[in-house]
Amino acid sequence: MKRIMTAALGAAIIATPAFAEYPERAITMVVPFSAGGPTDTVTRLVAESMSKDLGQQIVVENVGGAGGTLGAGKVAKADADGYTLLLHHIGMATSATLYRKLAYDPLNAFDYVGLVTDVPMVIVARPNFEPADLKGLIEYVKANKDKVNYANAGIGAASHLCGMMFMSAIETKLTAVPYKGTGPALTDLMGGQVDFMCDQTTNTTNQIKEKKIKAYATTTAKRLDALPDVPTAGEGGLPGFQVGIWHAVYAPKGTPKAAIDKLSAALQKALKDPNVVERFASLGTVPVTQEEATPAALEAKLKSEIARWKPVIESAGEYAD
Ligand code: MLT
Repeated sequence: MKRIMTAALGAAIIATPAFAEYPERAITMVVPFSAGGPTDTVTRLVAESMSKDLGQQIVVENVGGAGGTLGAGKVAKADADGYTLLLHHIGMATSATLYRKLAYDPLNAFDYVGLVTDVPMVIVARPNFEPADLKGLIEYVKANKDKVNYANAGIGAASHLCGMMFMSAIETKLTAVPYKGTGPALTDLMGGQVDFMCDQTTNTTNQIKEKKIKAYATTTAKRLDALPDVPTAGEGGLPGFQVGIWHAVYAPKGTPKAAIDKLSAALQKALKDPNVVERFASLGTVPVTQEEATPAALEAKLKSEIARWKPVIESAGEYAD
């Protein structure tokens, strides 16, 4: 009976003239990490541009903690009325394996709006870190594994995933210092309170250029136009050490299709916005294609990424609980 009532209510929402005017008020877009970090940076750029098309403000709300799963969990439980959204990254896929007691099912708790961008990562260190290059960093880290520490944004974060891959690649276990986002982690890195981290170029490009931190290697097949002097990890002796942090927009499961369609159209327009394209390029990334900024593309990406990372995480043997 409840299912029939829900379906009827859903149909009624779509049919009512009021809904045809969606959105009629401000929308909240949750970032599951601290303000000032890479996920926050991407979100604010995209949200500002989407607001122009939707005619309503998109208010960014930072809900950090537990590698992005607290913020994602909040949106999973939100009303499915089109007024609460989530912008999250690859952590939506990796958390499915990392957290064996996740408060939501990544494959059933959300409707999909579309993919946004795929951001490279870069291994960076405090400005006075001794090693001169990636080879030297690996030697130093192995020789000082009980002293050296690295920052991440909690189990499930992109910085955690890259750190886990790095430790597997050099066969050395290191101490992680978890933050609620790599915004605050970067502040400590610049201050020398933590030794190194693997973070997204959307958070570190400017600080690398201003020499406030040292950059050792990017996780890309070829050097980035935004950071032409930073070698790839392959050049530094870690061939195949590549990872891209894809970001996407989600809504709570049951959000009316009329809302999803308007949101996906607004996202596609935002990804062609010259300001978004230019700011992304200056931070080492590019928007996805219009076809990727669709619900179907995101659903396919999430399913394939959960399957891809499951064995990698299981072989590393690091779980959140
Ligand atoms: C991550 O490590 O997942 C992100 O860089 C965290 C953030 O956006 O602050």
